[in-house]
Amino acid sequence: MHLSSTITGTGSYLPERVLTNHDLEAMVDTTDEWIIERTGIKERRIAADDQTTSDLACEASKAALRSAGRQAQELDLIIVATTTPDMLMPSTACMLQAKLGASRAAAFDVSAACSGFLYALAVANGMIRSGSHKRVLVVGAEVLSRFMDWQDRSTCVLFGDGAGAVLLEASDDKNRGIMSVKLHADGKLWELLHIPGGGSTEPISHKMIEDRLNFIKMRGNETFKVAVRALESLVVDSLKENGLKASDIALLIPHQANIRIILATASRLGMPMDRVMLNLERVGNTSAASIPIAMDEAAKQGRISENDYILLEAFGAGLTWASALIKW
Ligand code: ACO
Repeated sequence: MHLSSTITGTGSYLPERVLTNHDLEAMVDTTDEWIIERTGIKERRIAADDQTTSDLACEASKAALRSAGRQAQELDLIIVATTTPDMLMPSTACMLQAKLGASRAAAFDVSAACSGFLYALAVANGMIRSGSHKRVLVVGAEVLSRFMDWQDRSTCVLFGDGAGAVLLEASDDKNRGIMSVKLHADGKLWELLHIPGGGSTEPISHKMIEDRLNFIKMRGNETFKVAVRALESLVVDSLKENGLKASDIALLIPHQANIRIILATASRLGMPMDRVMLNLERVGNTSAASIPIAMDEAAKQGRISENDYILLEAFGAGLTWASALIKW
């Protein structure tokens, strides 16, 4: 049994190709102004044709291992959160395990869309605290561009590709590390955000492809309203349960879906925007990769110091939503 799990390294990777709002103006009926005003996004990254989700995950993971001063062989578990796996089978975590040469590690995926990284972090934290594992690589990685309908202006302007990773290690210091994780789901609202085709409900067929069912479908405005409501009460509850005030939080790292959702959540908490991590302008919504990329960038920018309280929160398909409180 270990008393806690602490983040000992972070890493992230963004593919080289930049797709700007102006590029999108040439592809669908949209404008740079509309996208910035409604979402806060200016550009996003797109994976090269020969890059898979596990390739992006591998780059982020190597960076996280380097920052922790650990070797891949020292890992005993790899958890990948993704909605855009390399293949339906095997898991992307197994592909990553092979690419890293992490031969001692068990490996599996977690599917909770944009909340996936926090769900994976909760699983890793539980396994470390139970004493079954000591060194767990937790990764969020997505190649959403392959599941995007590039004719649907209501979704294709939102998403980007990328990966982020953290190394979580067992510690006997109960005053630091993952202090609490809160996970929620409401499966009744699954239709608001889903990929209808390619699974057992609507197996791959010519008709399914013609009907464009292999792409992300979202009822954006309804999703937006549920997200704001759910996240506002989630962040308030997370602080209350841990006996903390907004002024105790050094940095809020929200899922980077929409600046208006982030502003609403921060305002409900009374959190000034200079203590909110933002990178969606450059990165867009990278689903499960969003929080670990933002966390790595915040750490590299010197925005997190030892013993700081960090609050993470996410909302996504499922519907799912989650938060985590970390003492760095
Ligand atoms: N360019 C120009 N106009 C557009 C575009 C576009 N790219 N997309 C939609 N519009 C139009 C619509 O057609 C609509 O026109 P109409 O009024 O003539 O019908 C108008 O803009 C308003 O559309 P809404 O969907 O009501 O716009 P809204 O203000 O809700 O913004 C958005 C849309 C950005 C998608 C927002 O609803 C949102 O961010 N939703 C939440 C997304 C989210 O958080 N998802 C969960 C995480 S993702 C995951 O889990 C994978």
